[in-house]
Amino acid sequence: MPRLITISNRLPISVKLVDDNFVYTTSVGGLATGLSSTDTVKENYWVGWPGSTIEAPKDQAELKQKLNADNMQPVFLTDHEYDNFYEGFSNKTIWPLFHYFTQYTTYKKSYWEYYRKVNQLFCDEIKKIAQPDDVFWVHDYQLMLLPGMLREIFPDATIGFFLHIPFPSYEIFRTLPWRKEVLQGILGSDLVGFHTFDYMRHFLSAATRILDLNHHLGRINMANRVVEVDSFPMGIDYDKFANAVYEKETIKEIIELRQQLGKDKIILSVDRLDYSKGILERIIAFERFLGKYPEYQGQVTLLVILVPSRAGVDQYQNLKEQIDEAVGRINGKYNTLRWSPIHYFYRALPFHTLAAIYYMSDVALITPLRDGMNLIAKEYIASKTDQTGVLILSEMAGAAKELTEAIHVNPSDWHDIVRAIHTALTMPQQEQIKRNAAMQQTLKRYNVKRWSQVFMDRLREVRLATEKIK
Ligand code: G6P
Repeated sequence: MPRLITISNRLPISVKLVDDNFVYTTSVGGLATGLSSTDTVKENYWVGWPGSTIEAPKDQAELKQKLNADNMQPVFLTDHEYDNFYEGFSNKTIWPLFHYFTQYTTYKKSYWEYYRKVNQLFCDEIKKIAQPDDVFWVHDYQLMLLPGMLREIFPDATIGFFLHIPFPSYEIFRTLPWRKEVLQGILGSDLVGFHTFDYMRHFLSAATRILDLNHHLGRINMANRVVEVDSFPMGIDYDKFANAVYEKETIKEIIELRQQLGKDKIILSVDRLDYSKGILERIIAFERFLGKYPEYQGQVTLLVILVPSRAGVDQYQNLKEQIDEAVGRINGKYNTLRWSPIHYFYRALPFHTLAAIYYMSDVALITPLRDGMNLIAKEYIASKTDQTGVLILSEMAGAAKELTEAIHVNPSDWHDIVRAIHTALTMPQQEQIKRNAAMQQTLKRYNVKRWSQVFMDRLREVRLATEKIK
């Protein structure tokens, strides 16, 4: 059995140096759990950035030794690399462009040069630990050049690539000055995966037009190998969320939250603070809902949880200010001594608190303007063990393709969101249960373990196809 080398910008744990001591926190996300539980590999080794800049050689060596013992290989970045590669090309060029925010997209040559440099740095680290037969699985938009770099040094390696964000339409993608290099980088893989059929279609359209390649049903014949492109919608660790509600830490949180919130109905909004998530638009739609249906004033609370993210990038800071202002204004307008329309938390919540909030929320209002997948929507449904609750989901989220029983909305149309909130709050319980039961069945079956298994099986098949044509 081969060894799997998972490569992502972030390691599954983040490390910070505080007063000469390393402080570890678990990186959130389904990826870590999903990949560690595949049984087609004998061992999973992880390569990635440890989440903060650690520059002293002595500290780097010590941390490396500690992480190596847990099958992780850190890639250290200097402050300058962090600014230009992470905040720069990854989050000021690719992130906005791929989410259709062309007005926020910066095209800067020095960012690009650092992107290439850091992808090469990842490649060099991998070279140090790679063994014959290792299978490489590269993740996400921060590392799109890496498959091509790995292919150069390991021509016969098995390499998969998965993009966790949307791949935009050709008309958007073509504006990128380095579009050729990015496509060539991704095509160093044997298998390229996306969350949805549309992202896959956009990628194939860009590759055929920009690189003048042909494909048949997603298979591209390169000079001496085959590349396949397909969609693999990512799942969640279903049981973790479905079981959490029976754990004593969650039950304690539920009792406390109930005492604080009384009988108010809860509408939940939880995201990383990001302009792609449509958070401000959603808060304003809630304000308009209260204006249009005054009978709900004093009865319904919007619980806004914002997880801090990429605070060094201007647009994220500006958005935070706009949200603070909107929440203050709406609460100022409607607050009573007993009731606040919006409860607002700007921090990451511990797992059991989040599980309790999912379970207690009558409605989840998830309205990103663009979102590769959105696992929050899936986590909410999995947590509703009594099958009540209503999911309102943006049609622009990849998850909408699978969660067809949710109420779908156009996130730019506040009338649509207001209507959906009203429909959700008045939906008969029988109907809630019917919809959630169907979605739970899908999510339980296509969980994260199944996702990685299907991808890995397919990767092996593609490699065999290449070996046949050689
Ligand atoms: C998205 C991306 C991930 C990224 C995460 C958190 O989900 O697809 O690659 O890790 O956001 O963003 P951050 O910039 O904090 O890693």
